Amino acid sequence: MEIIICKDYEEISKKAGKEVIDLLKSKPAATLGLATGSSPIGIYNELIRAYREGEITFESVKSFNLDEYVGLDRNHPQSYYSFMHEHLFDKVNIKEENIHIPYVFDLNKGFAACKKYSKLLENTEIDLQILGIGSNGHIGFNEPGTPFTQRTFIVNLTDKTRQDNKRFFSSLEEVPTKAITMGLVEIVQAKRIILIASGAPKAMAIAKLLNGPIGTKFPASILRSHPNVTIFVDKAAASLIEGVIYE
Ligand code: GLP
Repeated sequence: MEIIICKDYEEISKKAGKEVIDLLKSKPAATLGLATGSSPIGIYNELIRAYREGEITFESVKSFNLDEYVGLDRNHPQSYYSFMHEHLFDKVNIKEENIHIPYVFDLNKGFAACKKYSKLLENTEIDLQILGIGSNGHIGFNEPGTPFTQRTFIVNLTDKTRQDNKRFFSSLEEVPTKAITMGLVEIVQAKRIILIASGAPKAMAIAKLLNGPIGTKFPASILRSHPNVTIFVDKAAASLIEGVIYE
């Protein structure tokens, strides 16, 4: 696992964004694994800039998103479908039919939706997966305790995750209690993974990711067994890497 410590969020976004831009230049029909949350927004801004300046095109790009809340209409402002359109898709020339975001509005149809997304992923090779990390070590919405062999499933979000994501909703009650997420085994099937984290609230998660035990208590630790992962962090997120004592 390679770690790149950047000065600040802007530098993370530029350096990580350049990786994606370089990939799309060398492979215009690349398949991207995309994430939501505040962390990748800077990368998406870099991609939009490069697209507007004619450096890259999304004409043949395919995308697969990690996750989506269960029970939110696609057009709800806090759905990940809305997030992706607002922060990237509406601003580049990606084709709607090449965009894949899991969707479960009615929980009764959840199992079928998981099977469908899993099947799609089975027949896809993601060239580059972008990841953020939850403060409890989740990737996608794979919360602590998720088996490393897990495929796409419906997860009960932890209180910690709902609290962390409350900032996007008007109250905690409005934060969905469930999500559909790509499973850990599907995430690590990507050829290359870049994970980004910025700010002090992510410092403990980054320290555990690099030096803590590998196991289901800390889902992101699965990345340690992947041969091609780079972590981009700023100084604040890197601040606990040395000298942490683990239970
Ligand atoms: C959500 C998403 C994750 C994301 C995490 C961190 O829970 N499901 O994919 O990595 O939030 O978000 P942020 O980048 O806003 O800290």
